Amino acid sequence: MDAVCGLLLLLLLHGTSHGVETFCDGRQNGTKCYGALGGTVVLRLMDDASKIFSYQWIFNTTTILRLRNNMILSNLIEKRSSFSPSNGTFRINDLSRNDGGEYTLEVYKDNSGTNQEKRTLQLTIQAPVSSVLLVSECLSQGEMKASCSSEGGDSPQYRWTLGGRTLTQTQLLSGNSESQNITVKQDVSGELVCSVRNDVSVVRKEKQTCGFTFLQCTLSNGTYISNWFPPAYETLCPQPTPEGKEPDITVSNKPSIKITSSSHTKALPLLYCGLRAAVVFLILTGIFVYFACKKNDLKKAEGSAVHEVTEYENDSVVMLEMRSSASRL
Ligand SMILES: *[C@@H]1O[C@H](CO)[C@@H](O)[C@H](O)[C@H]1NC(C)=O
Ligand SMILES: *[C@@H]1O[C@H](CO)[C@@H](O)[C@H](O)[C@H]1NC(C)=O
Ligand SMILES: *[C@@H]1O[C@H](CO)[C@@H](O)[C@H](O)[C@H]1NC(C)=O
Ligand SMILES: *[C@@H]1O[C@H](CO)[C@@H](O)[C@H](O)[C@H]1NC(C)=O
Repeated sequence: MDAVCGLLLLLLLHGTSHGVETFCDGRQNGTKCYGALGGTVVLRLMDDASKIFSYQWIFNTTTILRLRNNMILSNLIEKRSSFSPSNGTFRINDLSRNDGGEYTLEVYKDNSGTNQEKRTLQLTIQAPVSSVLLVSECLSQGEMKASCSSEGGDSPQYRWTLGGRTLTQTQLLSGNSESQNITVKQDVSGELVCSVRNDVSVVRKEKQTCGFTFLQCTLSNGTYISNWFPPAYETLCPQPTPEGKEPDITVSNKPSIKITSSSHTKALPLLYCGLRAAVVFLILTGIFVYFACKKNDLKKAEGSAVHEVTEYENDSVVMLEMRSSASRL
């Protein structure tokens, strides 16, 4: 476990000490190159150095690199640099401000000393931007006051974008797309980004705009409103949606009302039905019992067919009574 932590720490330290690496193609005379303080710069000085007889690389007035027939004769900054003759690149690590200045390459195509070619490049060392601070505030009407600041970097340049596009003057109440302090109009919504760059780094920070919405309606308590409101108040007005559908508020309320009202109107007939069924059942049971008793009586009395008819008449009377009692319920 400790070994893993140690390894992670080592990797982190390695990652931070490595610094920023920049590349510059210095094959054209007068190229401007930039290196990050504490970082690495890779300079392309020529195409292929292996065919060149001899050359030297001079910083300000000091010769720092000297080669002849592909042999490095001297390299003053050997410890933190390397030269690759095959592709003509010179790599300098651990850059300090003292590395900034003019570098001149002198190429000799033969040993005559006269067939000479010369070109220079200007190396500028900059401290990279280490952090960006974006402070913002929503004003009462939803305008956004935003302030961007940075730490560590040399000659930082600020730029504001909204949803990937440079902020335009029509979206701003104060400042411009390159100011540190700006005020964004309330109808501008999206992701506001402040990016701070110099020639060796770019760091950005983003914030959502205030996202106010304009509400205009009469509230349920009779208050008329017509103003910009923060996102939390979006549902204050029962506004119809663009598709002409019913507004959200009523949609969420109506079904519950419908359910309660329909449950009343459905529950009542159900109740009547149930009661009727129960009454019918009771009466039918009564008839059954009545018949069972009558049969027993008949067996005892041994009555005529006329007798039976009257008995049925009695039944129908009972049935009529049952119906009237049920409808009374
Ligand atoms: C140049 O060559 C060296 C060594 O062969 C290699 O490490 C480096 O990436 C090359 N650089 C470029 C820019 O091709
Ligand atoms: C190299 O020259 C530049 C001006 O071109 C100067 O600012 C810098 O200090 C010089 N560096 C050294 C180490 O002499
Ligand atoms: C930006 O505003 C801050 C305060 O919010 C102020 O300290 C700073 O000086 C302003 N910067 C510019 C460039 O106006
Ligand atoms: C009506 O309601 C709004 C929001 O709920 C409230 O701000 C306002 O004071 C109320 N108005 C009255 C007259 O009660």
